[in-house]
Amino acid sequence: MPSPPVKRDLVSLRDVATDLPKLLARAAALKAERRRGTLRPTLRAKNLALIFEKPSTRTRVSFEVGIRDLGGGAIYLSARDLQLGRGETIADTARILSRYCDAIAYRAFRHADMVELARWATIPVINALDDLEHPCQIVADLLTMSERWKGRFRGHRLAWVGDGNNVLHSLLLGAAAVGLDLSVATPEKYRPRPEIVAQATELARGTGAQVTFVTDPATAARGADAIYTDVWVSMGDEAEQAAREAAFQGFQVNASLLALAATGAFVLHDLPAHRGQEITSEVLDGPRSAAWDQAENRLHAQKAILELLLRPPARRAGRSRQ
Ligand code: CP
Ligand code: NVA
Repeated sequence: MPSPPVKRDLVSLRDVATDLPKLLARAAALKAERRRGTLRPTLRAKNLALIFEKPSTRTRVSFEVGIRDLGGGAIYLSARDLQLGRGETIADTARILSRYCDAIAYRAFRHADMVELARWATIPVINALDDLEHPCQIVADLLTMSERWKGRFRGHRLAWVGDGNNVLHSLLLGAAAVGLDLSVATPEKYRPRPEIVAQATELARGTGAQVTFVTDPATAARGADAIYTDVWVSMGDEAEQAAREAAFQGFQVNASLLALAATGAFVLHDLPAHRGQEITSEVLDGPRSAAWDQAENRLHAQKAILELLLRPPARRAGRSRQ
């Protein structure tokens, strides 16, 4: 009897670093198929459990619609409603869900809990955001940039203006993996974590991506081909709201900052936005905003991620039509 396939997780963007070209090509193909109405049920009868400890609009809906579009189903489980909220362990929850479902997408407060779930689940675990990373977001972001740059990352430079947070961490790894140059501007106190910077540096060594860190937004934005920002106060950071709002003064993506970027530069935001804080409505709603395409691309990226983790090549090989 053949041995069961080893399950694959997407806990960190690093887990798919070498799959990114394939993932992006498949996401683009799925986007075109959806537009033509020719999507095929590649995930027929697959069930995705969605455990969410924090709110979500894009991630939840794109996973639910994504798997349904491909013939599967999703079960939304707010952590409060699970026995997890009454003290059942993550390990036991992982073992039980593995008996019913084919994959788990988990939005957690703590990265350690994500790792624990992945350790005990015998089905793929997908990081739907935690305090360290937001890898699915970055697959959609790379798709958005790739569409605008005709598939070429090399020779382009993205500026990050804002917090050294979960989104930046996955972006650092993703940019380094595809050879995209990245200029990161954060306040001194809110730099990305050193262990992620070290991992990104290692990946960049293989692709030649140049990653730089500054504390002046204008330095990062000047001549950039795109500017990316995110909220100053992430979910879970609410206690630091006042200190953060003070520290991030000067880090707003507005018309003057955008004027420093290259001609034709566009703006990314993973959303939700705090209009008037990290970004102005003028920029977010303006002609150079890519944020709405970026949000749509979550749907196509989730499908490519689900297929990658749920349809290992060995299984696909035997099928004549799919
Ligand atoms: N960008 C993103 O993850 O949005 P949600 O919090 O709405 O899922
Ligand atoms: N950094 C933000 C991203 C939201 C999608 C947060 O963690 O709240």
